[in-house]
Amino acid sequence: MLHNQYGGVASTFKSKVAQEDSSMGNGSQDLHAYLEDYCTRYPEDVFTLGKEDLDGTSGDGYRINALVLALERQQRFPVIVAINKLGVPSVVTNVFASRERIARLLNTDIAGIHGEFQRAARNLLPLAEVATGSVSEVIKEGDEVDLGELPTILHFPGDRGPYLTSGILVAEDPETGVGNLSYHRCVAHSKNELATSLHSRRHVWSMLRRAEKRGEKLPVAVVIGGHPLFMLAAAARVGPNVDEREIAGALLGSSLRVIRTPHYGIRVPADAEIVLEGYIDPSRHVDEGPFGEFTGYYSNRSTNNAISVETILRRSNPILLDVAASRSSDHLTLSRLPRESEQVEALFDRFPAISKVHYPASGVHFHCFVAMKPQMAGEARQVALALLGWDPYLKLVVVVDDDIDVENDSEVLWAIATRSQATKDVFMVGNLPGMLLDPSSGTDGTTARMAIDATRAVDFEGVTVEAGREAMDWANSLVGRTSLR
Ligand SMILES: Cc1cc2nc3c(=O)[nH]c(=O)nc-3n(C[C@H](O)[C@H](O)[C@H](O)COP(=O)(O)O)c2cc1C
Repeated sequence: MLHNQYGGVASTFKSKVAQEDSSMGNGSQDLHAYLEDYCTRYPEDVFTLGKEDLDGTSGDGYRINALVLALERQQRFPVIVAINKLGVPSVVTNVFASRERIARLLNTDIAGIHGEFQRAARNLLPLAEVATGSVSEVIKEGDEVDLGELPTILHFPGDRGPYLTSGILVAEDPETGVGNLSYHRCVAHSKNELATSLHSRRHVWSMLRRAEKRGEKLPVAVVIGGHPLFMLAAAARVGPNVDEREIAGALLGSSLRVIRTPHYGIRVPADAEIVLEGYIDPSRHVDEGPFGEFTGYYSNRSTNNAISVETILRRSNPILLDVAASRSSDHLTLSRLPRESEQVEALFDRFPAISKVHYPASGVHFHCFVAMKPQMAGEARQVALALLGWDPYLKLVVVVDDDIDVENDSEVLWAIATRSQATKDVFMVGNLPGMLLDPSSGTDGTTARMAIDATRAVDFEGVTVEAGREAMDWANSLVGRTSLR
């Protein structure tokens, strides 16, 4: 039976930098050290699965992912650590599911996350090249490469196979050396080939197109598992001339320690768990998908690329740092937070009337709620337009007055119900580039976007029913003291 074994797991990480504070700014870039430190400090935020909970079969992955979803239904988001038969952690997941945990990682509180991330994005730290690191403990090349030896788990019964959900693709511009980091789901296609999808069609996609024009293959590395701040930096949406590895350094508080991969010299974190090195041949395509995506649906929509793996570098005791699949808070928060930071900063700067911006989990990445005190007629519509034009994932923006709690879906629905009129407060634009993985979008990836201005109109007649401050304070304190049956 599953049980929650709080505490006691910290020492199993066998970190070489034991007891070192591994949050931002202290120099440690090691996942093992981070986990050891976190489990020591916050044992109540760690859910440990022991040997007796898992049976070492393929069903383990399904169970771990199901556990994430079951806990989430209860609004619980602990880190999940699975201990294997040898008594050491083999799989860790759900690290990014809680904003509180990310705030701890950044040495701030939840309200300070966006600011801290943007501070790092403005204060890049150059890479620090070193000769070797923990990731060079085991090196397999050529015929020795066998992707079957990688730790992987199955997530959902309908997936093509055991997917790597945390693989970060590293590619460097051949002229400038500027690196790009982006996540891509990967599944083994053969002993030395991964099938992957580049459906976001961002920088690595353009690098591949440029390599194709030169008649070349694109050298790449795939990093599987690293310090969570490196992983957060990898999800940043920045211009093509910004190297996310330098954002990682700024978040970590010291330059990212990197080694060069043996064949192509790609700079990868020296303290990663696993690094694969190889290339993408633009002309080669393989079957990829289905995979249980962040939309909550299996997705077969894929660019069907292949990564040929020539080298495996890994620690002798690698942990599989998994990102929980489907519409888990782990996936949604990791991919959204860095984008949100950039966007929220710019929005607040341009529209001081905004008080809060929230992407509800129910809308996956497609909905955004904004609270504001409009200063002039039409301002709510202008804010909605700005967001719809900016964020390529968005399909719906709802703008409400600042008395509405945008973190509460039902308050936003109440504002729509009582403060908007569809014929004048809703507008739509069709045929825009959208998210290919949205099953309702066209197969060419186009989508429609909609805005609802649910702020009170100037002639709005409603007077909100309120209980009165004193009575409400009294009721809240009574409810706080009473356990209701
Ligand atoms: C956990 C996770 C998994 C992702 N999986 C994919 C994927 O399989 N394919 C893809 O094209 N984008 C995927 N993305 C989105 C890209 O990583 C994202 O668009 C990235 O910021 C693009 O990087 P760039 O802007 O530096 O080019 C994923 C993001 C996260 C956080």
